Amino acid sequence: MATFFEGESHTFSEYLLVPGYTSSQNIPANVSLDTPLVKYRKGEEPSIKLHIPMVSAIMQAVSGPRLAIALAQEGGISFIYGSQTPDDEAAMVREVKSYKAGFVVSDSTLTPEMTLADVLEIRDRTGHTTMPVTEDGTPTGKFCGIVTSRDYRVSRDDRGKKVKEFMTPASECVTTGTDTSLKVCNDIIWDNKINTLPVVDKDGNLSSLVFRKDYDSHKSRPDELLDEHKRYLVGAGINTRDYAERVPKLVDAGADVLCIDSSEGYSEWQKLTLEWIRENYGDSVKVGAGNVVDAEGFRFLADCGADFVKVGIGGGSICITREQKGIGRGQASALIDVCRARDEYFEETGVYVPVCSDGGIVYDYHMTLALAMGADFLMLGRYFARFDESPTRRLNVNGSYVKEYWGEGSARARNWARYDLGGSKKLSFVEGVDSYVPYAGPLKDNVDTSLTKVRSTMCNCGALNLAELRQKAKLTLVSSTSLVEGGAHDVILKDSNSDVNFRS
Ligand code: IMP
Repeated sequence: MATFFEGESHTFSEYLLVPGYTSSQNIPANVSLDTPLVKYRKGEEPSIKLHIPMVSAIMQAVSGPRLAIALAQEGGISFIYGSQTPDDEAAMVREVKSYKAGFVVSDSTLTPEMTLADVLEIRDRTGHTTMPVTEDGTPTGKFCGIVTSRDYRVSRDDRGKKVKEFMTPASECVTTGTDTSLKVCNDIIWDNKINTLPVVDKDGNLSSLVFRKDYDSHKSRPDELLDEHKRYLVGAGINTRDYAERVPKLVDAGADVLCIDSSEGYSEWQKLTLEWIRENYGDSVKVGAGNVVDAEGFRFLADCGADFVKVGIGGGSICITREQKGIGRGQASALIDVCRARDEYFEETGVYVPVCSDGGIVYDYHMTLALAMGADFLMLGRYFARFDESPTRRLNVNGSYVKEYWGEGSARARNWARYDLGGSKKLSFVEGVDSYVPYAGPLKDNVDTSLTKVRSTMCNCGALNLAELRQKAKLTLVSSTSLVEGGAHDVILKDSNSDVNFRS
């Protein structure tokens, strides 16, 4: 007879936290969100810790180098998507590892022959208003000049006007050489009252740009996640097919942690992949596995040597796995079950294998719920896809800015390795959709707001760190009518579009 799980399959929105005692010490400034990324033995420290419990999804529409850098600056980590060639993925990892904080390689570069129409298109797509101009349009080509919003007037200028006619030419720009330190660059910016300083090598090729605003924000990043060489940490996705080729390239590029990206992780394919990594690298390469939705799946991957285990099938915002195949489990129920198994495993073996809750976070309070239910950290796709730093285009649809967001199991991503069930036949159905998400601005502002809410709820629960939250949290299921009670109700809203997040 089949196994029947007791109880229903619940989602985050069906739970609330009941506040506990809040002491005068329970203020957001005292809350630590540090959390282990990889397994460790009782009494020891994990070799990699996050400063915020957030990682970005292994997806084409989410985790490119720009988002990886922005997230590491806030204390989390990105997993560069694996649905590209091993060489392309390794190049993205390298880009993050070689990033010099404060020195920006622009992906909005112009040629002198481009037009004002091109400038406006790039501005709308990327949100960038400062664009370097190089001879061949590459970010490291011969430096010709710079365009800012002060160089043209949208209401007056002809859209066909050439960039070379209105840019500030290189001969009139203040520039500096590639051996200049960030501190000296900042002094040059201040002394010359400029906003952007192009860094140019001895042959006149552009190397990077230093922005006035970046230096200030660089100084105020207490949580940034750095390795021992002061480079940002970055992760990378792998699959259960080409690991023998892909893993060495990613390790060589400097990836700090890997993760098997699969819709269903309780499989021999994952076991073989983990075994291959242990045989070839021992414990020096850290690798997470998943996804699973019950205790049995967790124990299997923990026994196979996974450094963390990812939970979630069918809960992702772009996911239609449950509709297509009828597999999955409500994310909250799955998480509670797996976290219980993690704690039992720790009791039995003395090895703590962190659990990542993957997908299905819609509201900021879902983050706190997932952490209270036991997640060590969260993987988010839709959340990060909305930000400036995600690798997708920003579009204007019916007067609103949106960004594109598509599933790895959609026809657009063609990431069939994620759904690998062996054999040579490709799947003939999709498990994800192609969509838009509302554009939400810079990652930093949004992460700050979300985590301020998490910290303040933790204070309401009397918790100063995530372990305390797990221990002290009191969770209650809510009825469908109390869900209505939870929003504004029985009043006439003055402004239905008002922003509930106050930003300074
Ligand atoms: P979100 O944060 O709710 O958008 O969910 C992101 C998660 O959805 C990812 O981390 C993946 O685990 C999962 N996912 C990504 N692409 C697909 C897909 O095409 N089908 C099903 N699940 C997907």
